[in-house]
This record gives sequence, C-alpha cells and structure tokens, in this order.
Amino acid sequence: MSPGWPVWIDLPDPFGWCAAIRVDPAAPAADELPALEAGVALGLLHPDERAAASGLGRERRRDWSAGRLALRAALGRVDASLADHGPISADDRGAPRLPVGFAGSISHKRGLAVAIAAVTEGWMLGVDVELDAPPRVDVSRRVLTDAERAVIAPLDDLARGRAQMLRFAIKEAIYKAVDPRVRRYVGFQEVELDGIEDGGAVGAARVTSGLGMEIEAAWVRWAGMFIAAARAR
Ligand SMILES: CC(C)(COP(=O)(O)OP(=O)(O)OC[C@H]1O[C@@H](n2cnc3c(N)ncnc32)[C@H](O)[C@@H]1OP(=O)(O)O)[C@@H](O)C(=O)NCCC(=O)NCCS
Repeated sequence: MSPGWPVWIDLPDPFGWCAAIRVDPAAPAADELPALEAGVALGLLHPDERAAASGLGRERRRDWSAGRLALRAALGRVDASLADHGPISADDRGAPRLPVGFAGSISHKRGLAVAIAAVTEGWMLGVDVELDAPPRVDVSRRVLTDAERAVIAPLDDLARGRAQMLRFAIKEAIYKAVDPRVRRYVGFQEVELDGIEDGGAVGAARVTSGLGMEIEAAWVRWAGMFIAAARAR
C-alpha cells in the first residue's frame, strides 16, 4: 500500500486491525484520509476482484473496491502473508469470504471503506461505519428497544440523535458478526445494548440477545463518524 493510506483506526482490544481507505474526494473523513483515485484503487485489486468490480455500477464499484482494499490491508497487518492472498469473494449472503483461520468484515459509506480483521480464535467479526450525526428521520422505534429508548430519552435532541446512530452502527456490526452463524435476518429488537456512555470518544456496549451466542461490541468516534465493531461466537 502507498504512504498515506490506509489509515489505521484504534479500536478497543480485541477487535483486530481496523483499516480505513477513501476513494472519493467527497467522502466523509476528508481531513483525516488522503483520497485514493478510484482508478488506482481498481488497479490495486486482485485481477479476479477487478473483473468482479467491472460488472458493478460506478458508486458500487467505488465502495466495493475500497472495501476489498481495506480488508486486504487489515488482513496483511494480522499476517503479512495475507497481503497477497487470492481474491476476496463473497459468500451466498454477501459476507466476505476470509482465509481459513481469520475473521474480518467490511463497511462503507459514500466512498470511504472501513474493514477489520483478526485471527478468528472462534470469533466472527462485524464492523459498521455511520456518520456521527442524527439520522435524517427518527429511527428509534425501528432500531431501539423500549429499554434502549428509555436510556437516551433524557438527552437533548442532538445527543439523542447521535445516540440512535451509535446504537444503529453497533447493531449493524453485530448483525455482520452473527449472520454467518444464524444465516437469517436478525431484527433490531432481537438484540439489546446497554452500558453505553454517550458522548465519549470510545466505549463498549453490553449485548444481550436470544441468539444463543456470546457477543461483544465496542465503538470509537473517528473523523466525524462512529466505527462500531462486534465479535460473536
Ligand atoms: C447487510 C447489512 C448489515 C449491510 O449494512 P449496510 O449499512 O447496508 O452496508 P455496509 O456498507 O455497512 O456493509 C456492507 C458490507 O457488509 C458485508 N455484508 C453484506 N452482507 C453480509 C452478511 N450477511 N453478513 C456479514 N457481512 C455482510 C459486505 O462485505 C458488504 O460490503 P461488500 O458487498 O462491498 O463486500 C444491512 O444492509 C442489513 O441487511 N442489516 C440487517 C438488519 C440488521 O442490521 N439488524 C441488526 C440486528 S442486531
């Protein structure tokens, strides 16, 4: 990888290496990350990935390429030999297929991609990136349980909106971590988060669910965004 990218994001232990790559000058994190020209990003993909990307529309190709590059970079930090690993394809549910013994996950937002990777040790990983800002429409009834809504109710409007977004990001990360095992849609009400300190720069969440899995989650604020990570086994 070239100097300047990826940028490494400090996630709390033990969620693995977290790489961010921006391939659109207009993407979030403009101040933190130099943009990699989209054509250059395509050229850096494994040839099979480049072939797969060529069938995608412009924005999807941009995000897909950035995600593959970020995941490959993260895998390369976990184990240098993986920097040259073969193409990262997708499984039948859309999750990236990882080399045996490793876990990883991808998220992107408008030309910015974030990926995490780690030795699996029995855990599956999920990551999600969302703007650290209130959602355009209030999603709390869809995304939050009654108990989660009660926790954020005393916050002012701005803080409550951001708190919704943070919980949304954590739940999306959890979804990606549990999906390879449960292989079905998991509703937002099926997972409950608590112990989150809203307003902080970094934190963890306690996770309860009826999914029969041990689930851990953490998050960090970075460049105007929430990066949430989860692991499940
Ligand atoms: C699949 C989903 C999580 C993707 O999230 P998103 O915010 O739309 O998009 P993101 O950019 O964050 O993530 C996209 C990446 O997720 C990964 N992904 C897609 N489907 C996946 C799956 N079933 N399992 C794990 N990872 C998956 C892919 O790597 C994809 O990027 P790629 O196609 O370029 O490789 C989301 O659309 C979804 O369906 N959520 C289900 C409901 C939910 O989250 N419930 C929470 C309950 S705890």
